[in-house]
Amino acid sequence: MKKAILSAALLAALPMMAQQKASITVHPEQGKEIISKHIYGQFAEHLGSCIYGGLWVGEDSPIPNTNGYRNDVLNALRSLQIPNLRWPGGCFADEYHWMDGIGPKENRPRMVNNNWGGTVEDNSFGTHEFLNLCELLGCEPYVSMNVGSGTVQETAQWVEYMTAKDGPMAKLRKQNGREEPWKVKFIGVGNESWGCGGNMRPEYYADLYRRYQTYCREYSGNSLFKVASGATDYDYNWTEVLMENVGELMHGLSLHYYTCVGWDGDTKGSATKFNESQYYWALGKCLEIEPVMQKHIAIMDKYDEDKSIALLLDEWGTWWDEEPGTIKGHLYQQNTMRDAFVAALTLNVFHKYTDRLKMANIAQIANVLQSMILTKDDKMVLTPTYHVFDMYKVHQEATHLPIDLVCDTVSVNSDYFGEKEGQRQVPMMSATVSRNSEGVIHISLANVSLKETSEVELNLNDLKVKNITGTILTSKNINDCNTFENPDLVKPQPFKGAKLNKGIVKVKLPAMSIVSLEVK
Ligand code: AHR
Repeated sequence: MKKAILSAALLAALPMMAQQKASITVHPEQGKEIISKHIYGQFAEHLGSCIYGGLWVGEDSPIPNTNGYRNDVLNALRSLQIPNLRWPGGCFADEYHWMDGIGPKENRPRMVNNNWGGTVEDNSFGTHEFLNLCELLGCEPYVSMNVGSGTVQETAQWVEYMTAKDGPMAKLRKQNGREEPWKVKFIGVGNESWGCGGNMRPEYYADLYRRYQTYCREYSGNSLFKVASGATDYDYNWTEVLMENVGELMHGLSLHYYTCVGWDGDTKGSATKFNESQYYWALGKCLEIEPVMQKHIAIMDKYDEDKSIALLLDEWGTWWDEEPGTIKGHLYQQNTMRDAFVAALTLNVFHKYTDRLKMANIAQIANVLQSMILTKDDKMVLTPTYHVFDMYKVHQEATHLPIDLVCDTVSVNSDYFGEKEGQRQVPMMSATVSRNSEGVIHISLANVSLKETSEVELNLNDLKVKNITGTILTSKNINDCNTFENPDLVKPQPFKGAKLNKGIVKVKLPAMSIVSLEVK
């Protein structure tokens, strides 16, 4: 394998080759794991303008809406085939008291969102508004319970309110206008309990988890999938203690992992102003999710050989500095082609671990961190990340086909990112392949090189295929993004650069491009 070693400092100075080569061998015979659609999950927290303004404007808004939900956003999200939506947080969840968000809106108390800028909220978006939104989107709700500052009784009653056919909580729900219970399968018992969710030690949280989950009952044929609050990034001890002390009382254990340029000091890096080495460094950090997952999975395997407890990456994505001029604490950031690559590369990794990884939730759905959608008053733009999710939705519930991939790499140093000394190797190509229930093969390829075209040769082995079509996401500059003034600068286009000959696919991938191929 040819290896291009470039240090961050040298990167800009070295003449780049015009073309690189990569080869991919697909192993259809090894395909046995289904890519759970829930890996394409989303996250909506009461944070900045994710809920208020992003998803919800209220029935009386001049912005076109259906029962208070923005029509433009509803339509865009429906076409994405969202499998599940996590709510109400994040850190917000451990300060949220659900009873404040039910009943006539004029009677609902106001609250201070202490985690996120101290914004005062009117609780007009509560349990009914969230669960009805999930019904409109055709996705499954994933509700995070308040373990940090809530009581066991509050948690127990919330589950009863949402899912019971009869009884006191069902009666209250019916008084509030909803006769039939909702189906709620996924519940999170706390969030980041090591931090904003209560600053707990894992041993203490493990006991609290055991206690809280006991009273999350299954009513009226509703079955629950209970998720324990998991580790952040490199905290392997948290996973170890939870696996040892909770075991099968949980159906899933979560993990959070964010990509930024440097976490120390005041900056995580600008979302739109970055140089080549910061770009490659960020992709290296994004790809580090793979060894991190492997280590958490190895610990889980030690206690649970049969893989009956799922791993859920229920927060992931890019975390950059807030957009200048926006409200502090609202985590509003732009989204460029670099974010598109982080989405594609991360999903490619996720597909490889679907025997253990059963759900993931990108943070977040609108106007916060690595969003699908940005809104401003009555305007909406779809981000490059949205387009990746759209191009990748074909992989949901398909069989993952393992591949061997050989490509060039770039080596980048951490010299000036406020992080400890280090170096990252970044492969120039990333790919994933799946076969759906009708036998159609979908191939997703990402050429992360900023300057070089890549000639990729894909050996499909004994797969019988005749026809190939494609879509490409690329742009002139890596920091191109969609704005309210220019909403379609980055958007998918038809791709004609793939040729099929006797089971070999040859693809000419422009620099800085993400391509989806359909082969049948
Ligand atoms: O997604 C933003 C925040 O990141 C969440 O509220 C929290 O769980 C995490 O630290």
